[in-house]
Amino acid sequence: MESLNEKVVWITGASSGIGEAAAMAFSNHGAKVILSSRRADQLKQVASRCKGDSYVLPLDLSDNSNFSDIVKEAIEAFGQVDVLLNNGGISQRSEAAETPIEVDRKVMEVNYFGNISLTKALLPHFQERQQGRIVVISSLSGKFGFFLRSAYAASKFALVGFYESLRLEEEKNNIRVHLVYPGFIKTNISKNAIDANGNTHGEMDNNQNKGISAQECATRLIRGIQKDKKDIFIGGKEMMSLKIQRFFPNLFHSIIKKQSAT
Ligand SMILES: NC(=O)c1ccc[n+]([C@@H]2O[C@H](COP(=O)([O-])OP(=O)(O)OC[C@H]3O[C@@H](n4cnc5c(N)ncnc54)[C@H](OP(=O)(O)O)[C@@H]3O)[C@@H](O)[C@H]2O)c1
Repeated sequence: MESLNEKVVWITGASSGIGEAAAMAFSNHGAKVILSSRRADQLKQVASRCKGDSYVLPLDLSDNSNFSDIVKEAIEAFGQVDVLLNNGGISQRSEAAETPIEVDRKVMEVNYFGNISLTKALLPHFQERQQGRIVVISSLSGKFGFFLRSAYAASKFALVGFYESLRLEEEKNNIRVHLVYPGFIKTNISKNAIDANGNTHGEMDNNQNKGISAQECATRLIRGIQKDKKDIFIGGKEMMSLKIQRFFPNLFHSIIKKQSAT
């Protein structure tokens, strides 16, 4: 198992939920953490609770115009970046038929284009050092579509296609890509999800409410990285759906269509 002591881990979406828990967990392993998302005040609070060194670096994934400067600042913070945890994102709660294309674009902009833009901006640093890990939070929704999540699922599938390709291309440069598929994790993701009008959904889904904690998710995420797993699956019994989908697709469809959308 690779030690994370003194490694520099850059986490997007570090102001809450999985990203916040990951910041604490990496910090407890002795890593130096760089914390990014839009809300600087929230990030400072997370930083104050981290055990070791931390650096707050606000960014908006829907605006990549300053990413080269942001990457420069991230590298200068501790002299290098060893791990990029691409975690920041938003979900959606609206039927495709009622969702204007602007909302689809917004979800893609944050979850996909923002995510890959940051990776592309940091990649030369990893290539130069001939090392680095890129950890990407997809979702069960990156494996199958579900009610009210057409744009969200599309963005999470898109990440899988991009990063599976990047994984192959960058192996020669000793750069590792880990794709993470969380199931139901108890965070504010459903409250922060956007509806057909682009407003926040504001409700805690039953599924998320019954999910595993963000802390447990972070612990399992780190274990997966240390074991060098290419694909990391984290959740409760909902993860069984992947096996059913793979081996019994018709049964899968008949089960999934009866599930509550929230
Ligand atoms: N919870 C689950 O059940 C679950 C399941 C599968 C996958 N996931 C994925 O896990 C990741 C983390 O979500 P979470 O569950 O921890 O939900 P969360 O608590 O809502 O966290 C989302 C994070 O993303 C950041 N973010 C949102 N829009 C952003 C933007 N435009 N620019 C920069 N940062 C932005 C938020 O920070 P600011 O508001 O400060 O910008 C926040 O830190 C997401 O990619 C989500 O799709 C979650």
